[in-house]
Amino acid sequence: MAFHVYTEEQQDMIALAKQFGEQAVDPVIAEYDEKGEFPEEIVNTGLEMGLQSLDFPEEWGGAGLSTKTACVTFEELAKHDTGVACAFSVTGTAIAPIMKYGTDAQKAVVQKKIFEEGGLASFCLTEPGAGSDSGASRTTAVKDGDKYILNGNKIFITNGGYAKLFLVIAATDKSKGNKGLTAFLVEKGAKGFSVGKEENKCGFRSSNTVELVFDNVEVSEDAVVGGVGNGFKMAMYALDHGRPYIGAVAVGLGQRALEEAVKYVKERQQFGRPIADNQGVQWMLADMEMQIESARCLVYHVAELIDEGQPITVNGSIAKCMATDAAMKVCTDAVQLFGGYGYMKEYPVEKLFRDAKIFQIVEGTNQIQRMVVARSLLK
Ligand code: CAA
Repeated sequence: MAFHVYTEEQQDMIALAKQFGEQAVDPVIAEYDEKGEFPEEIVNTGLEMGLQSLDFPEEWGGAGLSTKTACVTFEELAKHDTGVACAFSVTGTAIAPIMKYGTDAQKAVVQKKIFEEGGLASFCLTEPGAGSDSGASRTTAVKDGDKYILNGNKIFITNGGYAKLFLVIAATDKSKGNKGLTAFLVEKGAKGFSVGKEENKCGFRSSNTVELVFDNVEVSEDAVVGGVGNGFKMAMYALDHGRPYIGAVAVGLGQRALEEAVKYVKERQQFGRPIADNQGVQWMLADMEMQIESARCLVYHVAELIDEGQPITVNGSIAKCMATDAAMKVCTDAVQLFGGYGYMKEYPVEKLFRDAKIFQIVEGTNQIQRMVVARSLLK
């Protein structure tokens, strides 16, 4: 197996995530996957452990760890279940712009609701007509005295049915395109704010994915995050912060599929010997390891760049794209190595294969990541 040096802090977090995964997640997660149900109790245990607060400042109640430590923690959690891992990582995506650009009052709300009370957050950007084209958001926020009135729908929102805080991107001036967007901090329970349809997904079924409805939702002008007209930049900052997390989750998922495949090919006998004895199988395993390890290096590198305060948009897109493509390929190959059994629900790789697909789509499709990389070359 490829080798990495982890700090003591990282080793402790990996051990913590492994113990949590083995004790709380592994025994029951297949049932949640089958029912398409959010494992609320398990996630609440993780919230009590502070898994939503890893790389946020201690002065505001965060754990004060590095982004690299957060990534290795999400990687380990994802070996057990990507839905559980993403409940915490997407909370980080949503609150990142608030912790960077928010007012002290907004940071204090995050401190109380997310870190102290142990809550989830949602990043509310996507709409039916604004997927990859996030500048095309139609949800409106109209100024009314010292308030804004929000109207519209957001879809495919991770954690939406359970979150306590929502970072909502809405148009304050439609004539200005993406420069007319503004980010708002909306709290659960705001009048007129409700959870709509819950999605029934192919994989990633333990993650809560819902529509959110804003029907004349009144928020104070103090809820504006990062200034009026800066919503697109807040959204891009959230995604810059979140894409390495998604890369880390994909690495963990791929690693789990590889480990399952290695175990299986050593046990499975055909033609009177383990199928691991075949060079064709060995080369598949080697390729799987090389893909995951390359992806891991890219994810760790971008996390280290974040920790050093360097610009990471392009590196983040590269890492997210490579890691999630690697996870899809490795999970597909793991199913192939299991043969017919790999396609059956009794064996673990069927779920990993279904779970892998979403990561080529979520937090920016891999086509969008390639667009970001290509634009950086051509500009
Ligand atoms: N950081 C800071 N600024 C950025 C930026 C970044 N990463 N990316 C773009 N900008 C700035 C640009 O510099 C430009 O600024 P100026 O106008 O001042 O020059 C401005 O934003 C507009 O940029 P573009 O012209 O590049 O904008 P675009 O409309 O062409 O879109 C895009 C760019 C990269 C395609 C962007 O729309 C994008 O990332 N789309 C994908 C959206 C996405 O990832 N959605 C997933 C949602 S979340 C989710 O998956 C679910 C969940 O629950 C987590």
